[in-house]
Amino acid sequence: MSIKKRAERRESEKMSSFSFHLMDLTFRVVDFFFRPYIDKRVKKFDIREGMTVVDYGCGPGRYTIRFSRIMGEMGKVYAVDIHDLAITAVKRKITKEGLGNVKPVLASGYDSGLPDCCADVVCAIDMFFVIKKPSEFLGELKRIVKSDGMLVIDDGHQSREETKRKILNSDHWEIKEESKDHLKCILVSRV
Ligand SMILES: C[S@@+](CC[C@H](N)C(=O)[O-])C[C@H]1O[C@@H](n2cnc3c(N)ncnc32)[C@H](O)[C@@H]1O
Repeated sequence: MSIKKRAERRESEKMSSFSFHLMDLTFRVVDFFFRPYIDKRVKKFDIREGMTVVDYGCGPGRYTIRFSRIMGEMGKVYAVDIHDLAITAVKRKITKEGLGNVKPVLASGYDSGLPDCCADVVCAIDMFFVIKKPSEFLGELKRIVKSDGMLVIDDGHQSREETKRKILNSDHWEIKEESKDHLKCILVSRV
């Protein structure tokens, strides 16, 4: 790998293709044994038919599929990731499962390219802990959510304390509700 590429990778959260494949394989094994776990989680995210949901950091799309089924024909799911392999995996799932309401989106840095205020709910599941510039990232999530929209975010591999500190330091979001599994945030009110 060239020095330039190495430097770019250090700057960004994009993992190597090998790591992505390994993660995908691990998810498949875990999902095989603990399939109801994801369904149980998603039920608590307050997403309803007809909504527009963004699965930010969708990975191979294990949550995207669930969101798509709940959203129905009138709803929409944007599956956003910085890794081209994630987008390829989601496209494969769209074809295999016939998910007409899913649009895969390749992000660049913290730019999803999605329209302003397009989402009722943004879900950032098992990914916030890898984000190197949390305030910039949370700013992008703020841009794409509707003014009365919601962010569902979890800790992943960091402590709850760290998750909350990053969210509150960003000045973009306030925590509305939290459970052991995830936090629900709304936009900081603009007076
Ligand atoms: C551990 S995986 C989780 C995937 C999925 N959310 C799940 O729980 O199955 C984290 C994903 O976040 C993506 N990611 C990391 N940084 C990102 C960024 N800045 N923008 C979009 N996606 C990002 C990674 O490429 C990876 O696919």
